[in-house]
Amino acid sequence: MTNATSPQDIKKNFKGKDILSLDQFSKDDLHILFDHAKTMRNLAINSNPSTILSGPIVTLVFYEPSSRTFSSFSAATKRLGGQTIEYQNPLQVSSAVKGETLEDTVRVFEAYSEAIVIRHPEIGTAQKAANACEFAPVINAGDGIGEHPTQALLDLFTIQERFGRLTNLKALLAGDALNSRTMHSLIKGLSLFKGNTLYLLSPEKLKLPKQQRAELTKGDIHIIEITSEKDIPKDCNFWYWTRVPKKRFASLEEYEQFTYPFVITPQLLEKYGNKDMILMDPLPRIKTIDTSIDADPRAVYLRSQVRNGMYVRMALLALVLGKIK
Ligand code: NCD
Repeated sequence: MTNATSPQDIKKNFKGKDILSLDQFSKDDLHILFDHAKTMRNLAINSNPSTILSGPIVTLVFYEPSSRTFSSFSAATKRLGGQTIEYQNPLQVSSAVKGETLEDTVRVFEAYSEAIVIRHPEIGTAQKAANACEFAPVINAGDGIGEHPTQALLDLFTIQERFGRLTNLKALLAGDALNSRTMHSLIKGLSLFKGNTLYLLSPEKLKLPKQQRAELTKGDIHIIEITSEKDIPKDCNFWYWTRVPKKRFASLEEYEQFTYPFVITPQLLEKYGNKDMILMDPLPRIKTIDTSIDADPRAVYLRSQVRNGMYVRMALLALVLGKIK
């Protein structure tokens, strides 16, 4: 829908807009989205039938594996009475195998549907798809090591719901700061609000480069990089853990030999955590959080965090398709 190098700001009007980056959002836009997400939560909890999206078809085209993002967009559309065209692994099952360009593929999908949700291993692909589309809004469901805006939106909603604010928070973001698109989008989102301090804990070779850090933190945010768990402050409001995917390693052997230096164990939590914090992970949780933590009420990753993904995506789709304001 856009023909540009950067997407349009939302400016309190989601209708017809591509959703490609957290850069498009203001505080007001987030609050509009979150108010609707709460309504969507009530609707879903009560399994109320809805016809908000009856009529539109949403295409989900995922060139990279996905469980949660794919199925939550699918569930979000269907819970609102809409329908989906679902393309997972197009490189195996579609014309992409024959060498069709991404631009042609999305033009075809916009002939059949009202919105396109796309995930792709290459950074910038969602923008490319948006530039190719004439009518259908494009939603970025993860573009390589770029951004994953809808994940950050659900993360911010989860934090807002737990603490009643997105200001004056102290957090620990651990893992692959260099490549984690979920971390990148979350940092952008938290930069919109005053008084937030983020501790970034990552192995030396996965630290966020200075240039990228400057781009992510244009707003008002204080970043402190640490490489040892000994430097985790006791009073964080939340810990946000990300995995280091296999593809970051030159070989499978190298990956298998890799032991994640920072794993949430009961001991780590006891030593550096506090009773009021929450534990978040965009999932999949691989080598990052000991399963003995799951029963801890502070662990929200398989509870509210994952459920909020569907509520936020319900609200976002209805807003972008102009069915609510
Ligand atoms: C993340 C992703 O794919 O970016 N997961 C998700 O969408 N919930 C994180 C990851 O794959 O490590």
